[in-house]
Amino acid sequence: MRRKVTKAIFPVAGLGTRFLPATKSVPKEIMTLVDRPLVQYAIDEARAAGIKEFIFVTSRGKGALEDYFDHAPVLEQELRKKGKDELLSVLKNTNMESGAIAYIRQHQALGLGHAVWCARRLIGNEPFAVMLPDDVIAADKPCLQQMVEAYEETGGNMVAAMEVAPEKTSSYGVLDVKEDMGKVVSANGMVEKPKAEDAPSNLAVIGRYILSPSVMRNLQQKKKGAGGEIQLTDAIAQDIGQGEPVYGYRFDGKRFDCGSKAGFLRATVAFALAREDLRDDLMAYVNQIALNANAAE
Ligand code: G1P
Repeated sequence: MRRKVTKAIFPVAGLGTRFLPATKSVPKEIMTLVDRPLVQYAIDEARAAGIKEFIFVTSRGKGALEDYFDHAPVLEQELRKKGKDELLSVLKNTNMESGAIAYIRQHQALGLGHAVWCARRLIGNEPFAVMLPDDVIAADKPCLQQMVEAYEETGGNMVAAMEVAPEKTSSYGVLDVKEDMGKVVSANGMVEKPKAEDAPSNLAVIGRYILSPSVMRNLQQKKKGAGGEIQLTDAIAQDIGQGEPVYGYRFDGKRFDCGSKAGFLRATVAFALAREDLRDDLMAYVNQIALNANAAE
């Protein structure tokens, strides 16, 4: 019987410079898609996949994240007094059971691999998930849940994967495909941010991982990779040579790169259009803008 994946690491130590000046005082992960912070989407997805322990790797200035997941007794009391039950239940969804959430500081920005390694003592010797909240995935069945189900069959290491335009490989970790079985591919290796001409494929790693504890041991070696950073991709690829397979999983769903402004805006529109209370109003507005733009041409 394979061990269940119940712990997830959320690396959220980045400065979010692409969203300055907002991120001068607001952590990027708290910025809202419609009315939920980015991080809430990742948490909801993790919960749906059976995650029970949530480990945030943070840095200076991320205090608002801790407050966000805390109970807000004054606010709750006020809502209860006013009979606003719906809002109360929305708030409840943001509360974490005591002890279910942990915050670890990454003291130096040494790369994604290093951020994940900072959580090693809380992971111990069991498989774990890593979720990058910048990658928001809209899907009928949440992406990590799809992966957990596939992982129950495969074991090893599993990364979410998606075909990208060949000229975009330098923004991603890229899989060197060994065998393509459709939804699942096995890998010979992985390369972090290769130029188009060096990329082994155009199958890119998206920010959802289910990893074996051996990846933590590989990270312990603190080898520097692309950009002089300790890369998670390298530590996962190292596992292949050590006998632990790596699989890419082509998830069903639409991924938004909320680490970029354009991606964040697209996600905002897409999630708003998916909401019954906002759809008609927004759609009318978008149509009107499109009409005006066409008329001006
Ligand atoms: C990180 C990973 C990369 C992955 C990407 C997915 O890169 O290092 O392998 O493809 O996330 O979003 P970043 O976007 O943090 O530079």
